[in-house]
Amino acid sequence: MEFKEIKTEELNPEKFIEEKVNEIREIVGDKEALVALSGGVDSSTTTMLAHRALGDKLKIVFIDDGLMRENEPEQVVSTFRKLGIHVEVVDAQEEFFAALKGLTDPEHKRKLFRKTFYEVLGRVAKESGIKFLFQGTNYTDIEETVGGIKTQHNILEQLGIDPKREFGYQVIEPLKRLRKDGVKKVAKVLQLPKSIWNRMPFPGPALAIRVIGEVTQERVAIVRKATAIVEEVLKHSGAFQYLAILHEDRVTGIREGKREFGFQIEVRCWDSIDATTATPTKLDDETEQKLVQRIITEIPAVVSVIFHKTPKPPSTIEGE
Ligand code: XMP
Repeated sequence: MEFKEIKTEELNPEKFIEEKVNEIREIVGDKEALVALSGGVDSSTTTMLAHRALGDKLKIVFIDDGLMRENEPEQVVSTFRKLGIHVEVVDAQEEFFAALKGLTDPEHKRKLFRKTFYEVLGRVAKESGIKFLFQGTNYTDIEETVGGIKTQHNILEQLGIDPKREFGYQVIEPLKRLRKDGVKKVAKVLQLPKSIWNRMPFPGPALAIRVIGEVTQERVAIVRKATAIVEEVLKHSGAFQYLAILHEDRVTGIREGKREFGFQIEVRCWDSIDATTATPTKLDDETEQKLVQRIITEIPAVVSVIFHKTPKPPSTIEGE
């Protein structure tokens, strides 16, 4: 790799912030720049750094893909409003659902999600004549891309897109030498709230990879509601990550004395350090019953709730 990792124990966050702010000012000069904020720790920290360096010359957008969790766009905007930072919401819901229509293969879904994301972002950059795009890529993303595990770094190149040629902007990745815990250290010094630096991992393609098979408005609405219930019930569980998955197959159930071919939700709750390996968290009966009761009562289309008990590997944390 062309640059070295900064080990978290050797990181001085104050010094890092000062250096990055100066570096960003030097690169961007008096031009405008763009960042897509998702509310995750990497993009939030990148946004704070870039905003500190550029102030109002930084355009901050939240791309609403229609695949986020309940109230997530509003929460992200309001968190940053409290920090005195304005975030613009770009409504791209229709575009994402159209791009994902008919797709069932997980990698295919991921690819089309990324492609749509960068098309929307590219359009925003082009329309505003912006020359620089900030990305929250960290060292692990780059390492995993180089190792062929994930496609997170230089995503545009992997999609066959040359950002400079197609959209006219240059990519800046201020966090690329830091690991996740290093990013968290910087986030705290930048005074991002705990709800951001302590946020549970959530995949980039969002709920699109939590509905097994085709992504439709109806299926996403079901998994969104189930996700909200699971997150609420398990928020004090101390687990690493917890989630709901909507199965592709329907199952027979009974509602009000009638047979009904309904939906099935799977609940996953994980203990893990860094998501490389993971063990299902042992939940007590009362918690499991609470989850079942709330899901079948609050989501009438669901007639079955099951619990995932297989470790990673061979399972993975997400369903796709
Ligand atoms: P898996 O399912 O591979 O997940 O065991 C490991 C961790 O990564 C998250 N994850 C993703 N994050 N884009 C992301 O940004 C993705 O496509 C993606 N897939 C999985 C997952 O939530 C878990 O924390």
